[in-house]
Order: sequence, then structure tokens, then C-alpha cells
Amino acid sequence: MFSGRVPPHFKRNRLSEALDARRAEGQPVIDLTLSNPTRAELDYPPDLLAPLADPRALTYDPQPFGLVDARRAVAREYERQGLDVSPDRIILTASTSDAYALLFKLLANPGDEILVPRPSYPLFDHLTALEAVNAPPYDLEYHGSWAIDFASVERALTDRTRAVLVVSPNNPTGSFITRDELDRLAAMCAVRDIAIVADEVFADYELEPGSARSAGRVSSRRDVLSFALGGLSKSVGLPQVKLGWIAAAGPDSLVGAALDRLELICDTYLSVSTPVQVAAATLLYRGVSVRAQIAERVGTNYRWLASKSAASSCTCRRAEGGWYAVLQVPSIEPEEDLVVGLLIKDGVLTHPGYFFDFPHESFLVVSLLTPEAAFRDGVAHILRHFDCSVADGAPAATPPAQAHARDARKASASGGGAPRETKE
Ligand SMILES: Cc1ncc(COP(=O)(O)O)c(C=O)c1O
Repeated sequence: MFSGRVPPHFKRNRLSEALDARRAEGQPVIDLTLSNPTRAELDYPPDLLAPLADPRALTYDPQPFGLVDARRAVAREYERQGLDVSPDRIILTASTSDAYALLFKLLANPGDEILVPRPSYPLFDHLTALEAVNAPPYDLEYHGSWAIDFASVERALTDRTRAVLVVSPNNPTGSFITRDELDRLAAMCAVRDIAIVADEVFADYELEPGSARSAGRVSSRRDVLSFALGGLSKSVGLPQVKLGWIAAAGPDSLVGAALDRLELICDTYLSVSTPVQVAAATLLYRGVSVRAQIAERVGTNYRWLASKSAASSCTCRRAEGGWYAVLQVPSIEPEEDLVVGLLIKDGVLTHPGYFFDFPHESFLVVSLLTPEAAFRDGVAHILRHFDCSVADGAPAATPPAQAHARDARKASASGGGAPRETKE
């Protein structure tokens, strides 16, 4: 009866079940997966959302790409980041997820392929499946910092490839795409008529000074059809107001053809509310204080984690930006047992690497958005867990888990909603 775009079953995964049980018993949880900024003990100006009540929004003026003042405000955001983007090439959306759905409709027929980075944002599984497109992965490799494995891109390209997704900085690896990498990817895509979609929602949050400015940005490309994605959800910590955007770039004729088609798609849905468009400029301007708090929080937590883990058996992988950190931990038990055990024994909730398709075990992903005291407490539990387990004579490292076992757990994680829990 139901389409294959949605999973056939919705089984909860072990981690979600353990979390429900713990909460039902009233036991405390140190949540190191927190990615909802509105629950992260930040100081939001109480009247921040007052612009949503602007009486100008009482008039409905349906514009497929959004009201021009709001699009100009987004263009100023790019200007702030040192980029020149015309408001004519900006399309407002209800969220980044909405932007993905619009772009997949624009670029791909059912059964076509959109290449996705691995490891990366778990929601890509659903975002692509819901548009009936396939999502073969290409790899990011770690050699002291993360880089695109171009051989894996070459291998993944087929005559059904319609776009390559880039997340910069990536969730969870924290890696920005470099200018050289983007040049190389653009050359590969341009000759094959493949578009680049770059999710830049975390672009304002650099963990390594200078990394954002030196990253490759698609909005200035003229050689390949490209789409940059951003939104209020991360840039000013307001996921609930639902405003995202797409900035189109590339050869003029291709951009024109893409905008004609996008106009039809956007006009069909008109999904962005008028109050948020009227308020956009003010929200972007007044949200600066929230952005500053988030930047301070993620930077402080990252530096603390890097220094503490340096003296332990866990390794904090180098991150250049974003809201997440990756801890490589000793493989003394399967990742799933590890995260469930950490929750049951220590009350610490983390995400296992397999949620993000890490190529092998064992990794934990922690959110740097967590309030500092809770972050330190939770990380201290993790580090103690390993240093004690290893010292207690736990068995030597297990071999990497078999791919099929990992896939099965990820599938049940999808059914149980775990990737959604990583998306707020
Ligand atoms: C890489 C990435 N893109 C997009 C989003 C969500 O953005 P939005 O709330 O605008 O849909 C997230 C949320 O965590 C994310 O990690």
C-alpha cells in the first residue's frame, strides 16, 4: 500500500529504547548529542521573534523565490562572509531539508544518483529516498585532517549521477572543503554536466582560526552549476522559524535554465511563510548575539576536548568547523554496545560513528553545542570509561565490525528515528 520512499518498518534501535527506559525511570541523562540550539542554555533576547508580528505580513504577496527584501538580506550575509551573491540568484526555502527536496526535484529523475560524502549527515538517507533518488557514497579520508578521496568519487560516478553533495564544514567530521578540492571536484562535474550542492549551514562556525576564509565556496563558481545552502537554523540558532536559502551559481546560461525550472517548483509549493520573510533582515541582524554565543561555546568545548583527550587513550580528530567533534576510542566492544553501555552505566548519551557511516569502528560523535559543564562531565565519563576499561585488562582491540552488521544497525536506527534525532 505504501511507497518505497519510506522505510517498510519503524523499529526503535537499542539506543533509543535505552534512552526511553532511562527517561521513564526519571534517571538523569548527560546529553552529548544535543543539536537543538534553543535547548542549549543560550541567551536569546526575549523579544528576538517580535519581528514575526510585523503588520506588513498581513498582506500576502506570493513570490516563488521569496520577497526581495529578504533575499537582499541573505545576499548581505554572503557579503559578510566576503562573497558577492546577487539577490536574483537567491531562493528562500523553509529549511535546508526543503532546499534539498527542491534541488533533487530539479536535478534528478527517480532512480538517478546523487553522490553523498561518507561519513556525513545521516538525514541524507531519508532526504534522497523521499525524492526517489539513490545516494551512492564517496569517501572522506583522515590523514591528520579530512580530505576528499577523489578515487572514490571517480568510482562512484555513473551516467546516472546528477549531483555531488558537499557539506562544508561537514557534520560530523568538521572539515571544510579546500579551494583545491573544490576546483578538482568542479572540473570533474563540469565536463559531465553534474551539479554541485554545497551545504554550508555551519560555515560561520570555525574551530580552527582562518579555516572558513580559506575554504572553497561554490557561490563564486562560474564553471559548474552549483547551489550553496544556508539557513537561520544554524546561522543564528533559530531552527524553529523555518527559513533557509539556496544561492545558485555557475555558467550564466545554466543558472538561467535552473532558475526557470526552480521557479516552477517553488511556485507549486510556496512553502516559506510571509512573516518570516518580512522578519528575515531583522532576525539575521539581531541574531548575531546568538551566533556569537554558539561560536564561543563550540570553540571552548572543542579546545577542552582536544586537550583532555590528548592525555587519554581516546583521540579527538582534528575539526576545522561546525558543531561536532569526533572521538576515536579504543575498539574494546562493538560501537552499539559501547553507546548503550555508556548510557546505561554512565548516563551519557553519545552518537556512535556508524550513524554517520564511518568506515570502521570505534568512533563517538559528540555535540560541541552542549552546555560547558555538562560537556565536561560527559566527556570525563567517556575518558574514564576507556582508561579504566583498558587498565582493567579488557580484551585487545576487536577487528572492525562487518559491513553488513553495521548496515543492519543503521537501518534499524533509521527506522527508529535516530538520524532525525541528529537533525534539529
Ligand atoms: C549538515 C546539515 N545540514 C542541514 C541541517 C539542518 O538544517 P535545517 O534545520 O535548515 O533543515 C543539519 C542539522 O543538523 C545539518 O547537520
